[in-house]
Amino acid sequence: MGRDDRNYRIAVIAGDGIGKEVIPAGIEILEVAASKGGFTCAFTELPWGCDYHVAHGRMMPDDWYEQLISFDAIYLGAIGAPTVPDSVSAREMILPLRQRLVQYVNLRPMRLIPGITSPLAGRVAADIDMICVRENSEGEYCGLGGRVHAGTPDELAAQTGIFTRRGIERIARYAFRLAQGRPRKLLASATKSNALQHAMVLWDEVVDEVARDFPDVTWRKYHVDALAARMITHPQTVDVILASNLFGDILTDIGSAISGSLGVGPGGNINPDGTAPSMFEPIHGSAPDIAGRGVANPIAAIWAGAMMLDHLGERPAHDAILAAIEKVISAEAVRTPDLGGSATTSDMTRAVVAGLAGA
Ligand code: NAI
Ligand code: MG
Repeated sequence: MGRDDRNYRIAVIAGDGIGKEVIPAGIEILEVAASKGGFTCAFTELPWGCDYHVAHGRMMPDDWYEQLISFDAIYLGAIGAPTVPDSVSAREMILPLRQRLVQYVNLRPMRLIPGITSPLAGRVAADIDMICVRENSEGEYCGLGGRVHAGTPDELAAQTGIFTRRGIERIARYAFRLAQGRPRKLLASATKSNALQHAMVLWDEVVDEVARDFPDVTWRKYHVDALAARMITHPQTVDVILASNLFGDILTDIGSAISGSLGVGPGGNINPDGTAPSMFEPIHGSAPDIAGRGVANPIAAIWAGAMMLDHLGERPAHDAILAAIEKVISAEAVRTPDLGGSATTSDMTRAVVAGLAGA
């Protein structure tokens, strides 16, 4: 996905709540990384989200797709505010972005950074180093269904999951290839074929077929509930997780919780074929409970920015940012309240900038 000219055009959607606080932090880091790494990032801010909805009656302008398609990547904060129902903000913005830009991979690393105490006390950094490849375009979140007899005692809702051979195959292939490139070469496929006898049986069959092309990857399937428990009881046995849209959403909240805080975990919505820009964002939401106080942990947004650079072909800059994050966190001097400290977003950002500058 790298470009020869190394001048990247990045669309920035800071969004709502702490998205507006953590994305400026991430941009500051990206600018330092760019000047050290000899490339440039030109940021274009798009003021879309719930405030836009309040003013214009929609989450994004009608030509959002045409506006976004020419960017090299999208850097997203979080979408969601008390002014707009979550079903509207997700259904009219987050899901259309992921689906129309064919970002069919949702990639979420979950690592215990040295210096953070996991709620699973006694575990060390080497015990928690997982990455989830979540199907991001179909499955349980495809949006098919409806409601009838609204407001009556007979009211009924149907929500249908769609699983296609093509959709399962491409996400499985991405996950096996990722596992092949990691030291342990382990893959866990999350299924529930005992209870979901149509969709998850197809899932298992297609994963099994794809696995044959990757004989060096050790893999097995787990029912999703058992895998959820295993991530907590035996996290050191989990490396790459391959999961459907809903299962991946839930498992990655467990993964980021055991990594210390939701304020740390990043995510990428990746279009591996390069037909539209990929989009990088922290896993967390807009955190209305702490928004506006300047205390959100910017690490998830900074790490998401590093993933974006890696995707653009700037691996050394990614590695330098990760090293700076590890240096700051393991020094234990600067920590936001979610990690038990009293530092602000800008204290933490300044520490990472200093770490990066000294790296
Ligand atoms: P949330 O992730 O915003 O917050 C959950 C808890 O984690 C809160 O107590 C919050 O203070 C804490 N937290 C989250 N990020 C933090 C950070 N960087 N530093 C310190 N603490 C942090 O999830 P919640 O409360 O379920 O949702 C709030 C809003 O965000 C809703 O409108 C929801 O729809 C939206 N949302 C948007 C997402 C997106 O844009 N992709 C993802 C998840 C939620
Ligand atoms: Mg989620």
